[in-house]
Amino acid sequence: MYIVGRILEIKRLTCRIKAFTVEVCERVNTTPGQFMMVWIPQVGEIPLSIAYKEDRLLEFIVAKVGRVTGHMHDNLSKGDRLAIRGPYGRGFTLRNVEKCLMIAGGYGLAPLLYLSHELKRRGTEIDVALGFRTREDVFYTNRFDHVADHVWVFTEDGSYGIKGMVTEVMKKHVKLKDYDIVYTCGPELMMFEVVKHCLEQGVKVEASLERVMKCGIGICGSCILDPLGLRVCKDGPVFDGEVLMKINDFGRYWRCLDGRKVPIKSRFNS
Ligand SMILES: Cc1cc2nc3c(=O)[nH]c(=O)nc-3n(C[C@H](O)[C@H](O)[C@H](O)COP(=O)(O)OP(=O)(O)OC[C@H]3O[C@@H](n4cnc5c(N)ncnc54)[C@H](O)[C@@H]3O)c2cc1C
Ligand code: FES
Repeated sequence: MYIVGRILEIKRLTCRIKAFTVEVCERVNTTPGQFMMVWIPQVGEIPLSIAYKEDRLLEFIVAKVGRVTGHMHDNLSKGDRLAIRGPYGRGFTLRNVEKCLMIAGGYGLAPLLYLSHELKRRGTEIDVALGFRTREDVFYTNRFDHVADHVWVFTEDGSYGIKGMVTEVMKKHVKLKDYDIVYTCGPELMMFEVVKHCLEQGVKVEASLERVMKCGIGICGSCILDPLGLRVCKDGPVFDGEVLMKINDFGRYWRCLDGRKVPIKSRFNS
């Protein structure tokens, strides 16, 4: 069932990322890591992570990549309405976390932003590492300032913060074993490296995956991961690292809209 959302504010964060604050007509019960399906009639419907929630306000961080996201960037303004359904999927573990590390690449910071606020409310100690390609791609690092104990910002070219890949935080800047859990979201090859390294070190890790989605509720099969047949929309999008390592598709293959499997691109902080 759809609910109506009215856009209260649109903020440009970088040349390809905007934040949409939407007021929904009724309160929705959500947990960090879950997503909503956002439908724009005659354009299309896409899954978006909840980046922040307060009462009836939801924030979405949207990267312009194609038809629907392009329409949102170019044609929507304050006051416009969206049809929204959800929340869907399995979110991040919140219980028994005294100290955590979050590792995000690009707009992958969206679900971790909501998670950081929820964990802060529960008294968790939070360290955050955010990775971007260049200075022009950096956004919302300040939104973590008052919830996180440490925030490291990496850019691939060193034009802002620390030069290098965000995954280096695990090897050069922290002792992984100090954390109860590592949460990660971003480009899949980045998450693959995070999950692999955490498991090698014996540290619990959870990653939030993206796949092309149609139904969003576990029926159509477009988001299935081989060989376990797990559905990203229903069994995820947040998966435990141990489970991910049994999924051959993780870090390797992705299904297009027509169901074809293609290798995942080797970009990191996109
Ligand atoms: C659980 C979940 C949460 C997400 N959260 C966010 C978010 O918070 N912010 C955000 O900007 N994006 C998010 N995405 C990705 C977003 O849904 C896609 O970028 C969007 O569906 C693309 O639609 P489009 O019509 O603009 O692009 P299309 O015209 O359909 O395709 C353009 C390109 O985007 C790729 N693409 C298509 N569908 C997806 C998809 N589901 N995920 C990733 N790439 C896709 C295509 O392979 C193609 O290369 C999320 C995806 C999932 C599954
Ligand atoms: S989107 Fe249809 S099963 Fe996941």
